[in-house]
Amino acid sequence: MSFKDSVSVITGSGQGIGKKIAQRLASEGASVVISDIDTETARETAREIESSFGIKVASIKTDVKKRDEIQRLVDFTVEEFGKIDILVNNAGICSLTGIEDISEEEWNGVIDVNLKGVFFCSQAVVLVMKGQGQGRILNMASLAGKVGGIAVGAHYAASKAGVICLTKSFAKALAPFGVRVNAIAPGPVDTAMTQAFPPEAREELVGQCPLGRFADTEDIAEAALFLLSDAAKHITGEILDINGGTLMD
Ligand SMILES: NC(=O)c1ccc[n+]([C@@H]2O[C@H](COP(=O)([O-])OP(=O)(O)OC[C@H]3O[C@@H](n4cnc5c(N)ncnc54)[C@H](O)[C@@H]3O)[C@@H](O)[C@H]2O)c1
Repeated sequence: MSFKDSVSVITGSGQGIGKKIAQRLASEGASVVISDIDTETARETAREIESSFGIKVASIKTDVKKRDEIQRLVDFTVEEFGKIDILVNNAGICSLTGIEDISEEEWNGVIDVNLKGVFFCSQAVVLVMKGQGQGRILNMASLAGKVGGIAVGAHYAASKAGVICLTKSFAKALAPFGVRVNAIAPGPVDTAMTQAFPPEAREELVGQCPLGRFADTEDIAEAALFLLSDAAKHITGEILDINGGTLMD
C-alpha cells in the first residue's frame, strides 16, 4: 500500500486518531499537512513525523469552525505541495451533556466543529480535487451517529449522523470527477476524548462490546489507510463500522 508522491491534509491531527492516521500515511510515503486548532500539538506532531519518516511535513493552525482558516489551509497546501490528494476530516469535539442541559451555545459549538467543519473543509478541497480529476475524502463519523448517543450527548450523535449523510451526498456528487468519499464510524476509541469519560461509562461501553475492549488508534488508522488506498478504488459512500461488534448492520 504505497502513498508515495501523494499529499494528505488531516484536520485535528495534533493528537489522537488524526495523529495516528497522519503517522501511518507518512510511513507509506505520503507528504502530510498536520492541521489543528492547537498550534503546539500540530507543530510537535509534524516534527515527530518528519524525524521518523524523513518526508515533507508541514503544520498549520486551522480552526475548522472558521472558513477563512479552512481556505488558508487549502491555499497553503497547494502552494507548498502543489496538490491535495487526500483530505481526512477528523477534527471533532465530544460532549456528554444530557438533553435538558444542552445550551444553545453548546449545541452550536458541537455542530460547528463536527458537522459544519466537515462540510466547509470538503467544499474547499472540491475545486482542487475536481481540477486534478482525482482525490479521496475520509470523514470521521461515529457509532453514535448510527444508533444515537450512548455515553455521549444527543448533539454529538446528531452531528455524526449529519456527517454520515454528508459523506453519501459528497460521494454521489464527486464520483463523476474521480473523487471517492467514505467515512469511518468508530465505537469507543482509547484517546483523550474517551479518557475524559467517567470510569462507569467506560466500563459500560466495554461491557456492550462483543470483542470486549475499546479500539486503539491503530485499529482506526489501518482501516483509514485501506479506504484511502487504491485497494478500495471501487468503494465510495461507505460508512465503515469499527466497533468490536457492538453494532452489526
Ligand atoms: N475517541 C472516540 O471514542 C471516537 C469515537 C468515534 C468517533 N470519534 C471521532 O474521531 C475524531 C478524532 O477524535 P479523537 O478521539 O482522536 O479525539 P481527540 O480529542 O484526541 O482529538 C481531537 C483533535 O481535534 C482537534 N480539534 C478540536 N476542535 C477543533 C477545531 N475546531 N478545529 C481543528 N481541530 C480541532 C483537537 O485539538 C484534537 O487534536 C473526532 O471527530 C471524534 O468525534 C472518536
